[in-house]
Amino acid sequence: MSELIASQLPAFIEQPVITSMTFLNEVAIRYPDAISFAPGRPHERFFDVASLGRYLDRYTCYLRADLGYDEAQVGRTLLQYGPTAGTIRPLVAQMLATDEAIDVPPEALVMTVGCQEAIFLAVRALCPGPRDVIFLAEPGYLGLAGAALTLGVPTIRVPEGDDGIDLTALGAAVQRARDDGLNPRAVYVIPDFANPTGTVMSGAGREALLELAAGQDLFLLEDNPYGFTAREHVPTLKALDRQRRVIYLGTFAKICLPGTRVGFVIADQQVADAAGRTHLLADDLATIKSMITVNTSPIDQAVIAGMLLENGSSLKAVAQTKAAFYQHNLDVLLRELSSAFPPGSGVRWNSPPGGFFVVVDVPFRADEDVLRACAARYGVLWTPMSFFHEQGGQNRLRLSASYLDPDQIVTGVARLARFVREQRAGTAS
Ligand SMILES: Cc1ncc(COP(=O)(O)O)c(C=O)c1O
Repeated sequence: MSELIASQLPAFIEQPVITSMTFLNEVAIRYPDAISFAPGRPHERFFDVASLGRYLDRYTCYLRADLGYDEAQVGRTLLQYGPTAGTIRPLVAQMLATDEAIDVPPEALVMTVGCQEAIFLAVRALCPGPRDVIFLAEPGYLGLAGAALTLGVPTIRVPEGDDGIDLTALGAAVQRARDDGLNPRAVYVIPDFANPTGTVMSGAGREALLELAAGQDLFLLEDNPYGFTAREHVPTLKALDRQRRVIYLGTFAKICLPGTRVGFVIADQQVADAAGRTHLLADDLATIKSMITVNTSPIDQAVIAGMLLENGSSLKAVAQTKAAFYQHNLDVLLRELSSAFPPGSGVRWNSPPGGFFVVVDVPFRADEDVLRACAARYGVLWTPMSFFHEQGGQNRLRLSASYLDPDQIVTGVARLARFVREQRAGTAS
């Protein structure tokens, strides 16, 4: 039998950025009864298998009644290979106009297999050369860091402050990269409740980032899965974008259903070819997609379209109901942390106004072994923040409030508090 040697495979497969998700999944499988603050998953109380048929019916009615399709066309739309850029772009464009005041034509969109594919397409298209680099926050989202690593695109980390990525440090890092002969192409940001820190950028911070991008001739990759949980709406970068600097990476995973794996990218930038003709960047992203996933499942797109149509091409109402649940969970988590860790306990945390995540500083090294011990002895899981750092984050952990019921959050924090006390006292290993 032939055998492969690991060194013959790409080295990135064994990099922590890539392996940390597998590690977390393994721990979760090994301790299935543990209370898990680890995953940024939506709560399963919103899952209703029976509604899938209704969403599909709603979409097929729309195809017949609004678009005048006959049965053969309806069948083809749902069940045949579909157009690479997607089948539901007009509905998504309408949603973006209604919910986010983002006005783009359907042709500027590509429907993707989750936001993760949108990230891959954008990074691949913007960075063809070995000197092209992408900037992201430190700590930063694994999906971007892992995609760039997989594609062989270098990334440069820039510290995150209270108002998102530190713009002074970003300006300096871009300049340094240019001085080093690199070609800065884009900055990846999550302005609304970042993963992993929960940080929100202010309106002024967003305007300043757009200005920096214009001054430095950079694109902005705006990822926005958690914006729907905001208590106060701040316009997205894309809504403020007057120069088409922003490539917007969208997902229906958190508001609708992650199992559909439907996301999208807005790429309304003009691309000029050698003959001087122009087309949309979305066309090029679709061309790349045709060699990766061919098209996003039309059945999955139809489910999302049914949800949109049931809500008048807007997800605002759906989002508000769910946001109320996640805001309450976050409030419970912050309240329980306050009562479990009084001042002097050596434990501190941030208090994001929305999103799924809270970052906790603890007085010990919160690494993989410590997580295993915590799961085995105390039945509680979290994510080591070091996973999101290129360097550092050893004494920090990320808690997600999204996947649990409020009473599980109460029990989970109490267990975490016992674990932290024992770690501090040096009695747990
Ligand atoms: C920052 C960020 N982007 C995107 C996603 C969702 O990606 P997808 O649509 O591929 O599930 C997540 C989910 O964890 C995320 O945290």
